[in-house]
Parts: sequence; C-alpha cells; structure tokens
Amino acid sequence: MAESMDTITSVREMNEWARLQIPGRKTIALVPTMGYLHDGHLSLVKKARLENDTVVASVFVNPTQFGRNEDLSVYPRDPQGDSAKLEAAGVDVLFMPDAQELYGPDYETFVDLERLSLPLCGKSRPGHFRGVATVVLKLFNIVQPTRAYFGSKDYQQLQVIKKMVRDLNVNVRIIGCPTVREQDGLAMSSRNTYLTPEQRKQAICLYEALMLAGRLFATRESDPNTYLQAMKDRVLAEPDARPDYISLVNPETLEDLTTVNDSALAVLAIRIGKTRLIDNMLLAESADINQ
Ligand code: PAJ
Repeated sequence: MAESMDTITSVREMNEWARLQIPGRKTIALVPTMGYLHDGHLSLVKKARLENDTVVASVFVNPTQFGRNEDLSVYPRDPQGDSAKLEAAGVDVLFMPDAQELYGPDYETFVDLERLSLPLCGKSRPGHFRGVATVVLKLFNIVQPTRAYFGSKDYQQLQVIKKMVRDLNVNVRIIGCPTVREQDGLAMSSRNTYLTPEQRKQAICLYEALMLAGRLFATRESDPNTYLQAMKDRVLAEPDARPDYISLVNPETLEDLTTVNDSALAVLAIRIGKTRLIDNMLLAESADINQ
C-alpha cells in the first residue's frame, strides 16, 4: 500500500525534505497550483507521478499575481477537498504555506520578464506575470524539483516560466501538459464555478471560436484577419461575452502575426459577465487540435 501523503506548511521543513532526497538521487516532481482542484490539475499530477520518484504538489493562492481589482479575496478554496484529491492521486508531499510564510513584511524581490510578460494577459493584467514568475521561482528554490509540470491552458504562463528558467539558469525541466476540457469543450478552470448556468452555456464560445480558427488553418488560410473576424463573430454571438483580447500570435514570441505560415497560436480572453476566461489552441501541421 502507498504511504500516506505528508502536508508541509513551513519553508524550512519543505527545504529539509528536499535535501533528504539528494543522497538517494531521487527525482522530485513539482506541480504548482492555487487549489480548488479539478481534473486539469490532476492530469498534471498523474503525469508527474509516472515520470518521477517523488511528487510534491503545492496549493498557494499567490497574492502577488492578483491585481487590486481582481478576485483574490473571493478566489475559491477547498483545502480539505484538495488534500483528499492529491492523496488519492499518489502525491507524496502537499506544500501548503500561508501568505506570510512566503512573503514576509519586508519582502521586496521580484522576477520581471521585460518582453514576454507584456502582450495578451500581460496587457489587461499588469504585474500578473511578475507575481507568477516570482512565486514559481520561490517554489523551485524551496522544493528543488527535477521536473515541474504546467498546463498549456495558461499558454503565456508556460512560456514565461520556460523563459525565466532559461534566462536565470534554473536547474529544472519544465513539462507542458495538454488542456483538459469539459465534455462540450470548455477548458476546465477553477474560475468556471463563478459562472451562472446561463453563462456556462455561453462560455462554450471560447472553444468554438478556437475550433473555427483550427478549421481555417486546415484550409491553409494565411490572412490573420480572416481568423480574427471569425473568432470575434462567434464570441459576440453570445449576449454576455465581451472580448478582452482575441489574437493570433507567434507561439514562441507571442507577437501578433502578419501572415499565417507553418504555425500560429490562436488565443483569447473573454469576459462572461464578471468572469474572465482564457483559452488557446496551437495551430500547426503536427499539433493535436484538441490540446
Ligand atoms: P492554477 O490556475 O491553479 O493552475 C495550476 C496549474 O494547472 C497550471 O499549470 C495550469 O496551467 C494548470 N491547469 C489549469 N487548468 C487546466 C486544464 N484545464 N488543463 C490542464 N492544465 C490546467 O496557474 C496557476 O494556478 C498559478 O498561476 C501558479 C502557476 C500555481 C502560480 O501561482
């Protein structure tokens, strides 16, 4: 029978646990999350479990990645449910610090990506990726993982973290994982719980807009505006949907494309009522369109 999961809340203890893995040369996986776990999160844990000797999952609602008028205070939380799900998924250690444990009153150091954090979500959420990069680097330093697992649902976040690791020579392998969707195609997200049943129906417009882009790519359409118009029309067909952005970008640099050749990332952020949802689809010859 598998050993039961340990829960650690202090940085010092977490660090000590990591040090104890070194002599046996055990590989450590880290799956960082903000909790309120769904099958998307658990798919990362499953992959991590298969590829590593030990698995650490963190649950931390990181205050530095939320803007002043964002949903930090109402972000959904379920520590007991999360703990049960992670234990059932075979996690060895749940790292669940409180905010003071990671950010003391004299905290002042941040990681800023000068280019990659500017477009797309960076535009509407200034400071967001600074908070993400900072907390993820802190988690890497505390847990010392061999591999860390991130979802491509948050595509820009995944690119930001890969770039930070490269730029700062962090000794960890970043593993990107496919987006897990509900039956109708809506990407799983902790924020989906904010939607009323009527808004939930309308939220399918994100996935359907991406599928339209996929179909255009299959016809080798090269004009980005054709994609953007089709996606916008689909989104605006829903009465409560307001686009934050709808873009077609270079999958590496996230810069807007002027023409579509071998690959493109169709990406969008849409407000449905007060809820902001994001999704994306990699368009490439070899890409799995249902990523
Ligand atoms: P959170 O939104 O809780 O997501 C944690 C991880 O789960 C991220 O890597 C995210 O991309 C992945 N994920 C979320 N929904 C998914 C889905 N439907 N399919 C596959 N993976 C999915 O992202 C964060 O937390 C935070 O910004 C964090 C990285 C933990 C830093 O605070």
